[in-house]
Amino acid sequence: MNINVKTTQTQNQKIMILETDRLLLRPVTIDDKNEIFAYRRDKESNKYQGWIPETIEDVEVFIGKISKQINVPETWFQFVIVEKETQRIIGDLGIHFVNSENMQAEIGCTLNKDFQNKGFATESVKRAIDYLFNELNKHRIIASIDPDNQHSIRLVERLGFRKEAHFVESLCINGKWVDDLIYALIEKDWDKKSKE
Ligand SMILES: CC(C)(COP(=O)(O)OP(=O)(O)OC[C@H]1O[C@@H](n2cnc3c(N)ncnc32)[C@H](O)[C@@H]1OP(=O)(O)O)[C@@H](O)C(=O)NCCC(=O)NCCS
Repeated sequence: MNINVKTTQTQNQKIMILETDRLLLRPVTIDDKNEIFAYRRDKESNKYQGWIPETIEDVEVFIGKISKQINVPETWFQFVIVEKETQRIIGDLGIHFVNSENMQAEIGCTLNKDFQNKGFATESVKRAIDYLFNELNKHRIIASIDPDNQHSIRLVERLGFRKEAHFVESLCINGKWVDDLIYALIEKDWDKKSKE
């Protein structure tokens, strides 16, 4: 798999692009709002998500809050996932830079339902993990998952994450207390897995 990081100089700003065989991961911009709204508003496909936009303005606020710089403690950075062949945005991938010595990150991925079950999430998350461990030198990556979200559980288990906790009614999402699974991957295990 191609693991290039491209940086493109645009208006004096470096734009970081992570590349895989079929995909480009590039930072979200306000121009992506319509495409993001189209799949993020789907209540059924996103039923385990804490955030489902009701209006395009909700997406504007969401994009406005995202850090413009990657790797800033206590912020989220958001990539959109672009299919190279069609140049369509097929989903997004968020990284939360957790403040424990800035050595840990949380990862989350959402695909447009028309592009699920084709391996795109696995390909995107794998590339983001490589980037976090190999280029940003992170030590541990976690994912927070609803116990009923079987697709997400399969995704992280496929990539070698270990289930570390099952918190009972620890999150209040849309007024309802829900359980939360914490999955984690540490750098030395990823190193072993990538050599398998
Ligand atoms: C979580 C989510 C991104 C996972 O997406 P996904 O489509 O299941 O994962 P992938 O894109 O990696 O596809 C993997 C599946 O495609 C299949 N597949 C088909 N063609 C494939 C190919 N060419 N390469 C790899 N896998 C392929 C795999 O066998 C696998 O199926 P399985 O899970 O039944 O074993 C998706 O369910 C989603 O967006 N959910 C809504 C948002 C959400 O809840 N996000 C989680 C918040 S943390």
